Parts: sequence; structure tokens; C-alpha cells
Amino acid sequence: MKLGRRTFIKGTVAAGAVTAAGFPHIWIKDSSLAYAASGEIKVGVLFSLTGTTAIVEESLHKATILAIEEINAAGGINGMQIKPIVEDPASDPATFAEKARKLVLGDKCVSVFGSYTSASRKAVLPVFEKRKNLYFYPTLYEGRECSKNVIYTGAVPNQQQDEFVPWLIEKFGKRWYLIGSNYIYPKEENNYCKKLLAEAGAEVVHEEYVPLGHSEFSSVINKFRSEKPDVIFSTVVGDSVVALHRQYRAAGLDPEKMPMASLTTSENEVAAMGGDAAAGHFTSAPYFMVHESPENQKFVEAYRSRWGGDKVTHFVSEPSYFQVHLFKQAVEKLSAGDISPKTIVEAIKGEEMIAPQGRVRIEPENLHAYLWPKIGQSQSDGQFKVLKTTSEWLKPEPYKAYQNQVCTEAGLKEI
Ligand code: ACM
Repeated sequence: MKLGRRTFIKGTVAAGAVTAAGFPHIWIKDSSLAYAASGEIKVGVLFSLTGTTAIVEESLHKATILAIEEINAAGGINGMQIKPIVEDPASDPATFAEKARKLVLGDKCVSVFGSYTSASRKAVLPVFEKRKNLYFYPTLYEGRECSKNVIYTGAVPNQQQDEFVPWLIEKFGKRWYLIGSNYIYPKEENNYCKKLLAEAGAEVVHEEYVPLGHSEFSSVINKFRSEKPDVIFSTVVGDSVVALHRQYRAAGLDPEKMPMASLTTSENEVAAMGGDAAAGHFTSAPYFMVHESPENQKFVEAYRSRWGGDKVTHFVSEPSYFQVHLFKQAVEKLSAGDISPKTIVEAIKGEEMIAPQGRVRIEPENLHAYLWPKIGQSQSDGQFKVLKTTSEWLKPEPYKAYQNQVCTEAGLKEI
């Protein structure tokens, strides 16, 4: 790229700047110059490889790396290789924020792929918003966010609950026990659930939250016994999912009479707990590993060939994989000198691809994804049997629980 005098002045280094992460860095005002300068495209990969949510985040890391390797093996993006810079934020929101600052300010990544929990996404959000960088977030989450610096490729409540909750009420009944991990995601997700329950004349017999990493569920299980709910609605995450299912099974409770209905239990957690502990319970998600499509067959085969024949794919690793391919499609539309977080956001709006779950699309208004909700029942072989699939992709409505607010391209609007 040729630098004119004006461009050169715009790109002048402000020497001696020190970042919030505590290390000196070179601040280049025209950031697109920094992103194009190396002839490679640096991205951050920020999933926990240790700590309580490593049980799921390690697989998100692997799906992200797989997609990057596939793109690089096929020639990169317009001849440029993607260079992943990997950090382990150790399941700790403060460490997520520290590593995000390093990736954005120190390494000059043009985007970062990361996070499972909403707590960690909330922790890094100020970094991406302040520095006008871009975070690709693959996880199902509670909605109620309208950032122009995040691409959201996991399901929001309307995409997991709108079909699931009425289906469960009809099949099992109206007395619900809500159990979640104690942070923002389960609480907001349960607010949405309570709205749907109220509309159907159903009731919450008990609502409770356990600390992240909680592993002793005997008093919870005693309450299941005494309350005898029709449905146990679980938004427990991480290692706790395994403990809850195993202890439910060990207590001799019966999923045919009192099933757990989860928004967070995937093939990944089932692999950790063993198929027998999960069998009979239900999950709503846009993707299950058994989904039949050529794109999914390719994904599963590639994942297993790269990471091991016994590995599973699931509804958070699948968006971790397809969002890197969407990133590639967006960057491909740009010339090398124009690559920046800002231009990537514009280029990804309305972008579509056939993902393993089906055709997905980034909604330009709110930067969330159109997805294909499904209801699955856990089987003892560790897979899910898909009982219901939406007939059309479902629009993401991150503010559906808050009818007076809507996320638009111009920002959050009160209506
Ligand atoms: C989550 O915290 N979004 C699962």
C-alpha cells in the first residue's frame, strides 16, 4: 500500500503511550493501517482452557481453530493468512477483560472470537466498545444487548424458548421449578420463561440460583422431591451441569415424570456426565450433532479428524465454527487497506452462509443471527433425538422480553 503525506501523518506514532493492560504500545490513529500492515490478519481467540467453564470453552476454542485452519489451508482471505493469538482467561471475568485488552491494544487483533458466559462477555464489552474493536460471541445468551461491537451468533431467548416452553407445558404440565447458576444469564432467561409461563397460565413453584461451579445438589434434589414440579427448567452452566444430572440420577428421580428441560445442556456436557445420567431429559437448541446435512457431516468429520474421533460437536461449538467463516466472507469483500473492525461490521451485516445447522444470516439491525431452533431429547448413547424442528429460520429478537425497547442499526430505541 502506498502512503501519501496525509496518510502518513494520520498514521504517526504517539510514542510512549501505555495501555490499561500496563504495557507500552504504539498507537496508530488510522487503525486500518495497523491491521493491513503485516500482510496477515491477526485475530484473538479468547476461550477458557482452565477453570469451571473450560468443560465447554475448550471445545469452542477447538472449533474456532479448526475454522481458521480450514480457511488458511484453502489460501486464506484474499491471499492473507489468519493468525490466531490464543489466550486462556481461566473462567474468570476479570482475566477475560485483561486478556481482551492485550489482544486489542497489544496484539492489534482486528477482531476477537471468545466467551461462553455472559459474565465474561459483559466483562470484555467495555474494551471492545471503547476501542471500537469487534467481538464474535458464539453462545446462547439472555439478549437485552445492542452493542455495535459484538456479532452474536448464539440463540437469544425467543429462539430457544418460544416453541420449547409451550411444548413442555402441553406434554408435562404447568408446575415449573427454575434452577440456574447465579449470574445474569440464568436470571434474564428465567424472566423470559416466566413471561411465557404466565401467558400459558402456568406457575413457578420454586426459583433458585446456585454459585458458578456449584457441585453439591442434595438440598436442591430434596426440594425437587418435596415440590414435585412437572418440569425442572435448568439454566445451570459449566461443571455444575454434570453434577446436577448425576445427582438427580443417583437420587432415583425419573425424567419421564419430572424431566429437566435445559437451555445449556449439550452433547459436550453429556459426554462429561455419561449418556445414562442425561437420558430422557430435554434441550432446546438450534443445532444437535445428529443433524443431517452435508455441511454438518463435513463439520463433524473435520472436527473429529482434527481433535479426536471420540469428540462431540454441539450448539455452541457449531456457531464458534461458522462465525469464523462469516468473518472470512465479510473480510473477503474488503481490500487489504480497508480492513478494520468498523469495515468488517458493515460488511457482515446481512451476510449469509449455509452452516451445519442450516442457512444462517446476520440481522443488520441488531447483529444477531437467524437460527433454526430444535427440541432434542438426550439418549443414553450421548446423542440427542431431535423431536421438533422449526419450519423456518427464526429471527433474533434480543429485546422480546422488553416490548418497549428495540435494537436498531442506530442503537437502542425506546418505543
Ligand atoms: C451464558 O452465560 N450466556 C450461557
